[in-house]
Amino acid sequence: MRFFVTAYHHNLLKDYERLSGFYDAIREHAHGIVYDIGAGSGILSYFAAPYSKTVFAIEKDEKIASYASKNLAGIPNVKVVNEDALSYDFPHQADTIICEMLDTALIDEEQVPIVNKCLKHLKEDGRIIPYGVINGAEAIEMDSETIRYDENYKYKTKGGLTIYDSIKFNKRIDEKFKKTFEIPANGRTNGLKITTFTLLAENIIAGPTQMMNPPLLIPIEEIKEENYMIKVTLSYRMGGGLNTIKAKIKDIEDRKT
Ligand SMILES: C[S@@+](CC[C@H](N)C(=O)[O-])C[C@H]1O[C@@H](n2cnc3c(N)ncnc32)[C@H](O)[C@@H]1O
Repeated sequence: MRFFVTAYHHNLLKDYERLSGFYDAIREHAHGIVYDIGAGSGILSYFAAPYSKTVFAIEKDEKIASYASKNLAGIPNVKVVNEDALSYDFPHQADTIICEMLDTALIDEEQVPIVNKCLKHLKEDGRIIPYGVINGAEAIEMDSETIRYDENYKYKTKGGLTIYDSIKFNKRIDEKFKKTFEIPANGRTNGLKITTFTLLAENIIAGPTQMMNPPLLIPIEEIKEENYMIKVTLSYRMGGGLNTIKAKIKDIEDRKT
């Protein structure tokens, strides 16, 4: 089957790990009334159609919604709706909600505000795909003084990964995140690398991949010590954008003693 897509949605379709993970979760769990929020090219609605009664593919961008309409034209139980999910009047309670507006730590895309809104339209025993995310942080040495994604950018890891947060989409999420946690480091450190792993379902983990949550590099104050723990306070607003990120060192502790 040939899909009409924009260059961006073409790259999404080429990301095999992302797509196969969604396919497995949809095949296992999608049923009944399905909303595919941020449907893009319509690929996830296409996956869901054989397992569902009706799929509503909601896409706010007019051009890509028109592509989705063409791509899904031959499938009678899929209806493409060109609307913003935040103002969309959901006609039915959903059995399954698919929402792929993921990005690293859910900061720069609307996944969390949209899932929070959609929960009101999900049946009690309904399911959101993906199921949740797990976020980890590592100490790094980086050259940039600004926040950036790690694609094509060089940095050095200076300690192991610490999981600092785990989010499930099946209940309301506080969009404001703030936590103090410790990460190990050794040698010159001036940054945090944030890595997000996506749980498409409880037993299907995917990413990070280039098109789904590429790691995020955040500058912090420079430390030059041997073998230490950094206590850092990290805060951001999920859905608020990268400029809501604040990372501040609270304490440094020697690990040798
Ligand atoms: C990461 S893409 C995913 C596309 C597709 N579901 C896939 O997996 O290939 C997210 C899509 O959500 C759409 N989108 C973003 N905000 C939206 C909103 N508030 N309501 C509906 N669609 C939205 C974007 O235009 C984009 O096509």
